[in-house]
Amino acid sequence: TMADHLRKYESLFTLTPQRMRMIVDAFEETLDKGLQKEGEVVPMIPTFVFGWPRGSETGSYLALDLGGTNLRVCLVTLAGGGKFEITQTKYRLSEEQKQEEGELLFDFCAKCLKTFVDSYLADFDLQGAAIPLGFTFSYPCEQERIDHGRLIRWTKGFGNPNVEGYDVAAMFRASLAKHNVPVELVSLINDTTGTLIASQYVNPRTRIGVIFGTGCNAAYMERIGNIPKIKHLGLPDDGEMAINCEWGAFDSFTHEHLPRTKYDIDIDQTSNKPDEQAFEKLISGRYLGEIFRLVICEMIDDGSIFLGQNTYKIEKPYVLETAFLSLMEADPTEELLTVVGIFTHFYGLETTLAERQFFRALAKLIGTRAARLSACGIAAIVSKMGYLEQGCDVAADGSLYSKYPGFPDRVHQGLFDIFGPKGNNIRTVHAEDGSGVGSAIIAAMTNERRAAGL
Ligand code: BG6
Ligand code: GLC
Repeated sequence: TMADHLRKYESLFTLTPQRMRMIVDAFEETLDKGLQKEGEVVPMIPTFVFGWPRGSETGSYLALDLGGTNLRVCLVTLAGGGKFEITQTKYRLSEEQKQEEGELLFDFCAKCLKTFVDSYLADFDLQGAAIPLGFTFSYPCEQERIDHGRLIRWTKGFGNPNVEGYDVAAMFRASLAKHNVPVELVSLINDTTGTLIASQYVNPRTRIGVIFGTGCNAAYMERIGNIPKIKHLGLPDDGEMAINCEWGAFDSFTHEHLPRTKYDIDIDQTSNKPDEQAFEKLISGRYLGEIFRLVICEMIDDGSIFLGQNTYKIEKPYVLETAFLSLMEADPTEELLTVVGIFTHFYGLETTLAERQFFRALAKLIGTRAARLSACGIAAIVSKMGYLEQGCDVAADGSLYSKYPGFPDRVHQGLFDIFGPKGNNIRTVHAEDGSGVGSAIIAAMTNERRAAGL
């Protein structure tokens, strides 16, 4: 029966508090390792963002945000005192654009920026100078300075040739010059760093920035003395620098700590980057729908559902989006009419009520596992930095965090299961537009440092 099936998947996808604590311990160790030396699996990237904003940063900045699903162009005006205004346009990236020659992708970014600049140029008092631009490029980049970043590897399904190993800031500058865009790339940052800084600008309790979207990652502020691998730079030990963890790579290659099901292994092995981003593949929006779909396909194969129906539509990889899991979980009707709609409309499949209840319960298992694993990552940073006693806010953004029903509550429940009642001291807070505003603030901070001759 459907109830028997559910029991089986419950045992596969459920994470006990004890298991979570083991993951947190291993995670914390991995984060420490990444700060010690270059080339670790979780790279713990020094961002050259020095400390928190003062809140007095002002001016107008452009921000370009290449995320994973969308390209956003923003005009951000910082008014000081934690106040800002933002105007933006959004372009959805096609799957082809994620695989085409790297240069073409940056050319596209430059062209979108040009269109935007042309319509807002009047807002700038240029006096011949180029408009300062913050570039949020949300993939792992090794940085030597704030306006530089060598792409370590593509993540989130991107595969554009001739970008890995190159300085993406330089590539983008070349595209900007080619298209005569009157801007100056001041800073290159990650979306998590942007979210961290933008949130701290308005909420001083912020200590960690996380993205739960197409990908999954976190950034936090570290004491420079605790980053042994940059000792050779001779920066003052008691200064601070934001670290982009790139924690999506946790447990990659060795797969010793995370509970992977055969569906997870299947997704990993058929992805364009087998064995990489092991943590991210269990959590992020790019994969959750696919995990669900693989379970469904297995049940079709063993004759448990859809007997006698034509199932070819749902058997195609990645046709079931994570947004559908959200919709199923949020279905307010007793008959689960949203679930009916999804299956008939998109896959031409008839469902019984018992099956629909099972599907919804399965979505919940997959979504809950993702949230609880996310809590493990947050807990690792909290515990490493000693934030538990005093508590702190965790700025969070991304489609999973902001749209998946109950996701934040499940993360909080996870923190409670790991830490006990003190877990309640850690609060996640939705941070909207973090990377656009963060990029602008960081560009402003960079310009101030430059003006001060630092
Ligand atoms: C946006 C942030 O809201 O969330 C982006 O501003 C970030 O910088 C994005 O990359 C991640 O979410 P998703 O769901 O688009 O991957
Ligand atoms: C992926 C990227 C990382 C980014 C995250 C969220 O994990 O590697 O840089 O922060 O997705 O967008």
